[in-house]
Amino acid sequence: MSHMWLESLITENAQQGFELAMKLSRMGVKYTQPSDEVRGKLRASYEENADSLIASSQVVAINFQTVAAANNYWRG
Ligand code: HEM
Repeated sequence: MSHMWLESLITENAQQGFELAMKLSRMGVKYTQPSDEVRGKLRASYEENADSLIASSQVVAINFQTVAAANNYWRG
């Protein structure tokens, strides 16, 4: 992927940090499966599967730990 999409892990607040964690998680999937078409097909099955959604949430939670640590937990 050529364009720079991750300039920094530093965010202004925790909510933006969580949104960055979402982005990291989704980009992980995109790097893993670059085909828009294949991802589009798989979306239909995971979006209605509770276990898949919980697994996705777990990936986000792990990335959020990294982002939060990088931001010193927004302690200011
Ligand atoms: C849509 C998150 C895994 C394919 C979305 C949306 C979110 C999301 C939040 C809704 C976007 C919106 O409507 O505004 C995640 C997370 C994942 C994950 C956190 C796991 C860490 C996957 C996987 C696939 C996939 C495994 C397929 C291989 C898609 C597609 C869409 C979508 C095609 C709809 C188009 C788009 O909004 O880009 N995903 N997803 N996702 N996801 Fe995922």
